[in-house]
Amino acid sequence: MSKIILTGDRPTGNLHIGHYVGSIANRLALQEQGGFDKFYIMIADTQALTDNADNVDKVKNNIIQVAIDYLSAGISPDKVNIFIQSQVPELAEITMYFMNLVTLSRLQRNPTVKDEVKQRGFNSSIPVGFLCYPISQAADILAFGTTIVPVGEDQLPMLEQTREIARSFHNTYGKEIFPLPEAVLPDNKACHRLVGLDGNAKMSKSLNNCIYLKDEPEVVKQKVMSAYTDAGHIKVSDAGKVEGNVVFTYLDAFCKDEHFKKYLPEYANLDELKAHYRRGGLGDVKIKLFLNNILQEFLEPIRSRRKALEGDLDAIYTMLFENSKKARAVAAETLQKMKDAMGLDYQKFLKK
Ligand code: TRP
Repeated sequence: MSKIILTGDRPTGNLHIGHYVGSIANRLALQEQGGFDKFYIMIADTQALTDNADNVDKVKNNIIQVAIDYLSAGISPDKVNIFIQSQVPELAEITMYFMNLVTLSRLQRNPTVKDEVKQRGFNSSIPVGFLCYPISQAADILAFGTTIVPVGEDQLPMLEQTREIARSFHNTYGKEIFPLPEAVLPDNKACHRLVGLDGNAKMSKSLNNCIYLKDEPEVVKQKVMSAYTDAGHIKVSDAGKVEGNVVFTYLDAFCKDEHFKKYLPEYANLDELKAHYRRGGLGDVKIKLFLNNILQEFLEPIRSRRKALEGDLDAIYTMLFENSKKARAVAAETLQKMKDAMGLDYQKFLKK
């Protein structure tokens, strides 16, 4: 069986370091491992519109931002097809046929959708398009014969629904045309979801607690210095808590032993630093400056690639449109297979 990878993001803002550890790093690893037949990353503008109907400009303008974030983080357009969801209209048609295979109560049970409905305060006025986005996501995945979907934990319900839809299609129309896709989660548990600077469970644009991949050095430093540590750690001599401490959480995600040699040679590794913090006698400023050094080193090459890319936006848009055309040809083939399986072949009524 071929190995086809597909994943995507909604273009509602720039990517931050939470996206990096939660998904980009995983994608870069898959890209470097190779051994796949196709690798798609879809910029999910149509899905973003399901809860931004009145905010088209935001979605439209963030397409290029997300593309630049991918490329500057190291996603290679030679290895990965980065395309725009709305530029593959076959996905909408596939969605339409899938809608007949899903019940309203099944959509209402999707735990990720439920959480999002709560977060967005939709209450009983949920846009139908929003409630149905798991069906459209199944179309995104199944249209390309995807076998592997690298995502965060919150997307597992979407994968489950996608497999259900594929099975239901197979049962209803008696032909197995879709491989059943599997999710791949990041290896490092600490990275499944990076906490925000304020200690909030999630780094998120709306909570204003993110470090963006594009942030300038001074901004990164100011954000790191403002990060939540331990409210009980007031004097340097106080014993401090490492668990729930944002600086240590980020160090868990970004710090390697070689950073100690370079920036903090009094310690051999993160365990020693944590032990000292727990004992007392280690101040927040010191651990924050250490984290700042690490993040600056990590973000600098990403930022400079971004600046180079920003000089030729046309080249990026051209790449996105060309890739969307290629993706479109694949989705059109799948749609034809679906119609064949369903017996939607009206042309046969023509006498000659
Ligand atoms: N739901 C994903 C998100 O919110 C975006 C997405 C759309 C996606 N279609 C997809 C992810 C297909 C993986 C596969 O980020």
